[in-house]
Order: sequence, then C-alpha cells, then structure tokens
Amino acid sequence: MRMKMFVYSLREYDERQFFDTICGELGIEYDSVPEVPTPDNISLAKGYDVINIITCPIDEERIVKLKEAGVRLIMSRTVGTDHINKEAAARYGIPVMGISYSPCAVADYAIMLMLMGCRKLKYVQLRTIGRDYGLYGRLGRELRDCTVGLYGGGDIGKTVARQLSGFGCRILICDRHPDPEIAGIAEYVDPDRLLSESDILSLHLSGTQENYHIIGADEFACMKDGVMLINTARGLLIDTKAMIDAIESGKIGFAGLDVIENEKGMYYFDHEDRILTNKDFSILNGYPNVIVLPHMAFYTEPAVRDMVVNSTVAAKGFFDDKEQAND
Ligand code: COI
Repeated sequence: MRMKMFVYSLREYDERQFFDTICGELGIEYDSVPEVPTPDNISLAKGYDVINIITCPIDEERIVKLKEAGVRLIMSRTVGTDHINKEAAARYGIPVMGISYSPCAVADYAIMLMLMGCRKLKYVQLRTIGRDYGLYGRLGRELRDCTVGLYGGGDIGKTVARQLSGFGCRILICDRHPDPEIAGIAEYVDPDRLLSESDILSLHLSGTQENYHIIGADEFACMKDGVMLINTARGLLIDTKAMIDAIESGKIGFAGLDVIENEKGMYYFDHEDRILTNKDFSILNGYPNVIVLPHMAFYTEPAVRDMVVNSTVAAKGFFDDKEQAND
C-alpha cells in the first residue's frame, strides 16, 4: 500500500537524510515539521495515514484532533511510549507503536556514567575550571571492585550486562524473565537483593504506571551508603524528592541522570536566555556529585538511523498487513 507519513520533530541535521532514503526506497510519501505536535498543528497531518513522533506528549486533546485528521497510526520512533495516552488512543481506535534501536547507544552511556561516578568526574572537572589540579578528594574506585545492579533486563539491561562483563565486576540483574545467556554473566536476583547488594544501581525499566517511583525513600533506605545511582531510562522511576534527601544525607554517593521527572518541554530546546522553572533540576545540577544530562543516551548515529528506518518500516508493515488481511 502507498502509505503517507507525517513526521513531527524532524531534525534536519541528522534525521532528514535517513527519512529521505528509506521513504524513497519504500515509495512512501512523507512530509515533516521540526515542531512537536500541538493542538494547533495537528491539522497538518490531515490526509496522512500515520504520524511519526519522538517523546512529545500526546494527550487526549491531541488524539481527538488526530482522529479528526483521519490519522490511523501513532508511530513513535522511540523505545518508550509513555508519552502517549494509550488508553485514550485505544478509545479513539488509533493504534500506538514504538520501536527498538541499537541498545548499545543507551548501554554505553549508562556505563560511561558509572565510570564518571567511579572517578568523581564532575567534581574533578569543576575544580579543573579553576585550575585546581590537586588530587585531594578525587580518589576513585575501580569498576572491577563494584557490584553493579541492573534493574530491568530487557534489551538495554542485557546489553549493559554483556558490555560490563569485560570490566570484571560482579553483575546482578533483576527481571521477571531470566535469559540463560545473561545468567552466565550476571546473577538474577529479586529487588531486595538488588537494592541491598549493589554499589552501583542502574535503571533499565520502562516508564509504566506500575514502575512509577519504584525507587523512593523505602528503597533508598535499603541501599548501601554511598551508592551510585544511574538513570538512563525514565525520570518517573525515581521519587525525586526522596533522591534529593538521599543525596543530602550521603546515602547516594553519586547520581548520573540522563532523565529526570518533568523534563518534558525542557530538553532538546535552547534555553540559554530563559529562566528554567524545574526547581528539582536546578537543585540536582548544583551538587558536585550529580551529573544531569539532557536525555541523550540514545543519541548515536546507528541509533538515530535505526529510529528513522525501523519506525518507517514498521509503519509500512502495519498498513501492508492490514491491507493483506482485507484481501
Ligand atoms: C526512547 O527511545 O525511549 C528514548 O528515551 C529516546 C528518545 C528521547 C528519543
């Protein structure tokens, strides 16, 4: 079938070339805007079968407008689809799909944050700006001496385990579906053991309601003093207020946060001349042992190409299957 796709948040500098190539190959007509979908610009998708988006909120108001515009599929070129009100989409009969892309992108980033934590890199860099090249207070840890706990053993969690196995550290992993290959390099444990035995805890869970604040005050209380916490998954997994208390009490020795709660609308835009109103972000950013990054663990060339190609191919497959079923 000749599918028409409308792409929101298209980045000229990295995504355009991949969209041009794959849409050309598959004979797909597409148009795009650099903006996120808003109630005012959803009418642009009128006459298109599918919209292709990233992590911009798609609430009920937008879904009603998509229905009015005749859109028949919401395709997110992301792994997580927690930004879409799926319950409302189901009520209006619009299927929602996400995709997978190179898990190494996020896995590498998580490991980078672990290493930055082990070597107190933010503190070292801050001191270096003032030309303080002393060693006092910068003594690092070696990853091989750490127990690394991976909360979530999907594609990304398993890739972190595989990549980490070369560092010689003890690896724990918590997931309801153990994988025999991973069981050879990591020990599957329950959440209690994961929290209490990890020197470094890295989150690789999806942003479902079930996982909302899965790390809160009670969980911090079970953790080792000085634990390193890495979040490259979703901000809503951590109760931010409890995390701030845990940093201030010394329970958390380092936090590497590629994602934080209420980040929507802040990341991927230039706020240089604006006042940021996310107070938790400002507080977290101010600590010398906390690194806050703008949700870019995914951002590698292979992953960006996968996001564009896999989402386009999957959308085409969806409509081809539908057409075949109707034959
Ligand atoms: C995802 O794929 O779920 C992500 O978090 C990446 C997105 C921000 C582009």
